[in-house]
Amino acid sequence: MTLLKVENLKKSFKDVNAVNDITFQVNKGEIFGLLGPNGAGKSTTISIISTLLNPTKGKVFYRGEDIFKNPKAIQEKMGVVPQEIALYPTLKGYENLKFWGNLYGLKGNNLKKRIDEVADIVGLKDKLKTKVENYSGGMKRRLNIAAALLHEPEILIMDEPTVGIDPQSRNHILDTVLELNKKGMTIIYTSHYMEEVELLCTRISIMDKGQVIALGTKDELVNIIKGHKKIELTFDNIPPNLLDKLKIIEEVEEVDSKDNIIILTMKNGDMAFKDILDKVMGTESSILSIDIKKPSLEAVFLHLTGRALRD
Ligand SMILES: Nc1ncnc2c1ncn2[C@@H]1O[C@H](COP(=O)(O)OP(=O)(O)OP(=O)(O)O)[C@@H](O)[C@H]1O
Ligand SMILES: [Mg+2]
Repeated sequence: MTLLKVENLKKSFKDVNAVNDITFQVNKGEIFGLLGPNGAGKSTTISIISTLLNPTKGKVFYRGEDIFKNPKAIQEKMGVVPQEIALYPTLKGYENLKFWGNLYGLKGNNLKKRIDEVADIVGLKDKLKTKVENYSGGMKRRLNIAAALLHEPEILIMDEPTVGIDPQSRNHILDTVLELNKKGMTIIYTSHYMEEVELLCTRISIMDKGQVIALGTKDELVNIIKGHKKIELTFDNIPPNLLDKLKIIEEVEEVDSKDNIIILTMKNGDMAFKDILDKVMGTESSILSIDIKKPSLEAVFLHLTGRALRD
């Protein structure tokens, strides 16, 4: 079932097209990934979906309803974890959650109960009496997530929740995302870390320069570069002319070398090992190792844009 539908969405800031005609849908119960480098338009997309920003063009539907017709009703269904931490440093963890709870209209025992539950989910139960200014970066992120969960949203929208935090907090957040999803929460997860998106997401939209350049499951995305598998051959030393000899092989698309490594990009799924080894056999050198690169989202991005996901 489609929970959220984004249709030909566009957002321009003066002459910058932050989001340039994107379309995708998020199904109930999935973890939907928005993967893209800095400036791809991820946060702008998130801000529009969460009704905080008006689009220049296009529409967003939640359960079939235009979200801008009744933003208040939509906000009740959504929990938003913004990229910038939204907490009061001089207040304790508990007081911060109380503040956010009040904004959502939660009061009294119900609020207390919810604060307890969300603090437990993010693993901050014993830190609620500490002032947020004494929290680590990771703890602040986790409190931010707790705040977004207070009103029991149907969908959780997270904007790069693991940037700049310690590995332990990062793992905790990734576990929390999986755990929430297991219990039925739909999640939109924004990141420029492809490993996280690969690990978490049911379907992934790769964004670049305001556009969705690819969309699908990890397997579907990796299939885009199926015909461009890479083989890395490490030599004791690279014999002269070998690069030229390898280039002649029918299945070889491209030959690169770096130090003692030759990197072959293959045209089809075919590895042509026999041909490759034949060419090497005729030389004085020997192969120390053969490494077939596992196709990754990083490689998909590189293939589609000619640039690395991370600069
Ligand atoms: N309020 C604004 N005014 C002008 N330009 C903006 C504004 N917000 C975003 N932009 C521009 O729009 C583009 C997309 O920005 P956005 O923050 O959505 O990207 P992002 O994918 O979230 O990047 P990051 O990974 O750095 O968070 C960028 O070029 C950015 O400079
Ligand atoms: Mg952003």
